[in-house]
Amino acid sequence: MIYPIVVYGDPVLKKKAKEIAKDEIDVKKLSEDMFETMYAASGIGLAAPQIGKSIRMFVVDGSILEEEEENMEGFKKVFINPRILEEEGEEWAFEEGCLSIPNIREEINRKEKLRIHYFDENWEEYEEEFDGMKARIIQHEYDHVEGILFTDHISPFKKRLLKGKLTNISKGKAKASYRLAAPKR
Ligand code: NI
Repeated sequence: MIYPIVVYGDPVLKKKAKEIAKDEIDVKKLSEDMFETMYAASGIGLAAPQIGKSIRMFVVDGSILEEEEENMEGFKKVFINPRILEEEGEEWAFEEGCLSIPNIREEINRKEKLRIHYFDENWEEYEEEFDGMKARIIQHEYDHVEGILFTDHISPFKKRLLKGKLTNISKGKAKASYRLAAPKR
């Protein structure tokens, strides 16, 4: 099932999402639906709040980047109840986009490495380290379950420049090649 994608301005994107209790929901089915939704929108990550569900879960698949980035093949994962335990290394800038903020890209600084605790769709538990582009994709999606958007990381000056575009998105005027949810405010 393909969900419509919730856009900038919807309060669910600003809310800290709740932990999922085991057997509370069918995380296998939901992760399949989230992958389907993400692929239909040509995304490399999708967090549950972006389909209107305020729960701590996100999916990533960076394998489409394997031509331009190292070690991306097979980087397809489901993160349930993720907790970033540590972030370290130099900050580096990269132009990020977000399915919930169509047609806007901005340079965002993020630390190089992280250590994260999470469960997968089979409730297997992991504590793993990621770096580079993998870490960045995880940091962006992790922000979503914390109620943070990449626009929260840009300077007030840059944000002022984007204000008109962001307002249009929140009013449902954004155009995308994938289905957007009607704005809720
Ligand atoms: Ni995003």
